[in-house]
Amino acid sequence: MILPPPADSLLYSPLRLNGLTVPNRVWLPAMVTWLSNDAGEVTEDVRRRYVRYAKGGAGMIVLEAMGIRDVASGPLLRIGHDRYLPALTDLAAQVHDAGEVRVIPQIIDFLKIARRDPARALARLEGRYPGCSTWTEDELRARLTAREWRDYASGYRQQVEDLGGDEIAALPGLFAAAARRARLAGFDGVELHFAHAYTMASFLSRTNRRTDGYGGSLENRARLALEVIAAVRREVGADFTVGCRFLGSEDVEGGSDVEDAAWFGVRFAEAGLDFLSVSRGGRFEDAKRPPVGEAAYPYTGHSGLMCMPTKGYGEGYNLHLPTAIRAAVRAAGFTTPVVGAGRINTYEVAEGALQSGACDLVGMARGLLADPDWPRKVRDGLPFHACKYTNVCEALDRKHLPVRCQLWMKRPDGGMHPPETW
Ligand SMILES: Cc1cc2nc3c(=O)[nH]c(=O)nc-3n(C[C@H](O)[C@H](O)[C@H](O)COP(=O)(O)O)c2cc1C
Repeated sequence: MILPPPADSLLYSPLRLNGLTVPNRVWLPAMVTWLSNDAGEVTEDVRRRYVRYAKGGAGMIVLEAMGIRDVASGPLLRIGHDRYLPALTDLAAQVHDAGEVRVIPQIIDFLKIARRDPARALARLEGRYPGCSTWTEDELRARLTAREWRDYASGYRQQVEDLGGDEIAALPGLFAAAARRARLAGFDGVELHFAHAYTMASFLSRTNRRTDGYGGSLENRARLALEVIAAVRREVGADFTVGCRFLGSEDVEGGSDVEDAAWFGVRFAEAGLDFLSVSRGGRFEDAKRPPVGEAAYPYTGHSGLMCMPTKGYGEGYNLHLPTAIRAAVRAAGFTTPVVGAGRINTYEVAEGALQSGACDLVGMARGLLADPDWPRKVRDGLPFHACKYTNVCEALDRKHLPVRCQLWMKRPDGGMHPPETW
């Protein structure tokens, strides 16, 4: 494919998402930074990180996943109470002041998860299996139920089948209240996190075995997501940009594939979402057993690798997923823009993806972490710092340590943030 120069490209052309115009198609997908604090607040480091991205010239910044509940969740940002509004408002304003960029938070709900604690797990199982503390691992694996074995071996993890009807009924309101705060804080829209290992993705998953109308068939698995979308839309109004991030494929045994995802994409477009951001994998089902004292991390298995493909995988490795979803959405008569992501770091692949109709916006997470100035530099024909896809950033994420890039983290200035001149 012969590509136009950046000045005449699709990549550097604007796109409308409902009432919002994104100045170019370079999209920073959400990337947890762990730069918040235990109160889930916007810290100076959080502010610096996103203002730095804004200066680089991306069209859209999706702020890292923020919890919709006001519950302790380590240094993960929260949007679950009105007291977060002043600092979020300030963050939105500072990002807007730093560039022409648009900025929206990704809002998330997650199921409960505990650190691996075999002694405690066995103490709990003693009532049902007297003497089990003396069993070997082979005996435990053979005699416990699959769920008991998993909770023993990897740590307790709540799943969608455990939720009561009242807990499900609360979710649309929680998402809607968080979306209302996003609007009040001056963000340009909101992204509903329906991807990876978290609550909403687990409802959409083919592994969801609920029998009460919220699991099993495609219609039932989509029910809660559609209720969430409707509640959010009622709360924020027709003109506020609302989209979701969801999985083009789960990449675990028995999980949803791209056909399911295309079906969901059409339903979400029909429900009035303004963009569909496609991710891949990142599920708990194939996660490795964590060390004792640590919680399972959903990016340690094959599905995690597909979410953040490393250097052994080709550029634009996951583009077949947005391609198929976008084609289904277009065939159903919707023009909803689709975001693709996964190992995209060159102008050729980014512009090629837009020209070929794989997607309408190009997600670049690790590439922009490596060099937030990529959009400006590529537009001006300047060299940039290319991501090496070694997943040093992901290893930091796994330990809930401040996420940085190996290309700049060892610099003499401390490397907590990308250098201002880079
Ligand atoms: C450190 C790190 C944190 C991430 N946090 C999130 C997140 O909060 N929400 C999300 O949807 N995806 C998250 N992702 C996935 C990225 O948004 C992206 O989909 C993935 O890295 C593939 O894109 P890339 O090849 O351009 O990096 C994270 C990825 C990394 C490396």
